[in-house]
Parts: sequence; C-alpha cells; structure tokens
Amino acid sequence: VKQQHPTSTARIIAVANQKGGVGKTTTAVNVSGEIARRGQRVLLIDSDPQGNATTSLGVSKRSLPATLYDVLLKTAATDAAILPTGRDRLDLIAADQDLAGATIELTSVDRREYRLRDALRELADQYDLIMIDCPPSLGLLTLNALCAARSVLIPLQCEYLALEGLAQLKGTLERVRDHLNPNLRIIGVVMTMYDGRTNLAQQVVDEVQQHFPQLICRTLIPRSVRISEAPSYGQLIAEYDPSSRSAQAYAVLANELLQREERRRDT
Ligand SMILES: Nc1ncnc2c1ncn2[C@@H]1O[C@H](COP(=O)(O)OP(=O)(O)OP(=O)(O)O)[C@@H](O)[C@H]1O
Ligand SMILES: [Mg+2]
Repeated sequence: VKQQHPTSTARIIAVANQKGGVGKTTTAVNVSGEIARRGQRVLLIDSDPQGNATTSLGVSKRSLPATLYDVLLKTAATDAAILPTGRDRLDLIAADQDLAGATIELTSVDRREYRLRDALRELADQYDLIMIDCPPSLGLLTLNALCAARSVLIPLQCEYLALEGLAQLKGTLERVRDHLNPNLRIIGVVMTMYDGRTNLAQQVVDEVQQHFPQLICRTLIPRSVRISEAPSYGQLIAEYDPSSRSAQAYAVLANELLQREERRRDT
C-alpha cells in the first residue's frame, strides 16, 4: 500500500490567462526548466492544442506515442504519455491538435472537470512540481488544469489594457474555488514583455501593483527578441542565451515562485 506523504506530493501550478499571446507558454517552459536545473523533478503538461510548449522544448509533434488527449480520454495510461525532453529531471506530456477534440468528447462524461486531477494523482510522488500550460480560453481544458492545480500563475503582458480580462479570469477562479477546487490559490501575477524604455510599461506595472500588491511578482520579464527566438530552436532561454537578461529574469522568477510556494505550504 502506498503511503500518502504530504511532503512527497507534487505541487501543481497551472499557468493560465484566457488572453492569447501574453507569455503563458514561454513562462511555463522556462520556469519548468529552471526548477529542474535546481534539482527538482518537474513534469510540464502541454494543455493547449497548439502544442507550443511541446515544440518549444524541441519535441516533435510527429509520431508522439501518446499525448494529453489520451490521458484525458483514458485511451492510454498516464505513464505512457510521459516523454523525456533530453534534459535532466524535466519530462513532458505533449499536446497536438487532437486535444481540441477532447473538449467535445468529454462533454457528456462523468467528472469531466476532474479528468486531469484524477490522472495526475498516480504521478504525484514521481515529481516535485507539475506545471500545466493552459490554452487561451476558459474552456474545459483550462478548467481541468484549475481543478488539478493548487496554484495558478497568471502572466500579464505589459501593454495597454493588460488588466482587461483579468476580472473575468478572477471570476472564473472564484467559481472554481466555490464549486470545484476549494484549495486553488493565485500564486502570482507575472508581468511579461516589459520594456523599460517606455512609460507605458511602467504605468501598467504600477497599475497592477496598486490592484494586486500581494500577487504581483517582483520579477519582471523583459521584452526580448532572444526569448522569442529560442523556441524555434527547441531551446529554453537558459540554453539559447544563458547570459542574457531574460535568462536571468526567468531564473529569478523561478526562485521567487519557489519562495511563494514555500510560504503557501506554511499557511
Ligand atoms: N519576454 C518576451 N519578449 C519577447 N517576446 C516574447 C516574450 N515572451 C513571449 N514572447 C513571444 O510572444 C509570443 C507569445 O508568447 P507565448 O506563446 O508564451 O504566449 P501564450 O500566452 O502562451 O500564447 P497563447 O495564448 O497563444 O498560448 C511568442 O511568439 C513568444 O515567443
Ligand atoms: Mg501558449
């Protein structure tokens, strides 16, 4: 019989924002990589039919043995969908366009919001951290991630109207807490694509700071061409350009998130 040790249970973080192109995947992939480099066992789950996290890690979407689709539909065991990424302690459950069909195929299924949570239960002692890259919608895939997770990390792009849509996201998170997953907390709001040369970027940061003084991460992720280039080589920013400011920013963000998670564990 397997013992349930609370300390050996993976922390599960969903990276979510229904707004597209705000840096969810970039953040999920690079934070996962950083935390694996620190010695923790990390599983990244690509929960977006676009499969951007899969591609960003250099994993080919052709001839995948099993994907998150199979995990959610139970056409494969969860273990069978875990892929190595060629990096120590960093594994992946991949996604491809089939995943788009999962939301339709699951509509009439029992406990459809809990498919991911139930599947991850058996993996909990194999990993220290499980990170889920959500798609740009608040549909069933994101709901599954929010029901499986204890923490949500919200990337916000430093641009005009950054806060637009955040109220809707917070409303969804509250409903999930009320009805589906009372343990869910926002672990942080991380400001991405920060351009220190513009007043606008600083104004957006100030505004988010005022609204969410506890939630905003101290670490700002700079806007950088290098970050946008790395995925096309299947590399993390720490591999593509390790001495860049953006690689450092993701390293510091990983530390900050680990600290925030520790504080959460104490409460
Ligand atoms: N800090 C950054 N500086 C410059 N470009 C960035 C930065 N972060 C992300 N990008 C680029 O912006 C685009 C969107 O980023 P990303 O894919 O991480 O966002 P997303 O929220 O996951 O998007 P989607 O909603 O489509 O899943 C990508 O081309 C990415 O390479
Ligand atoms: Mg994405």
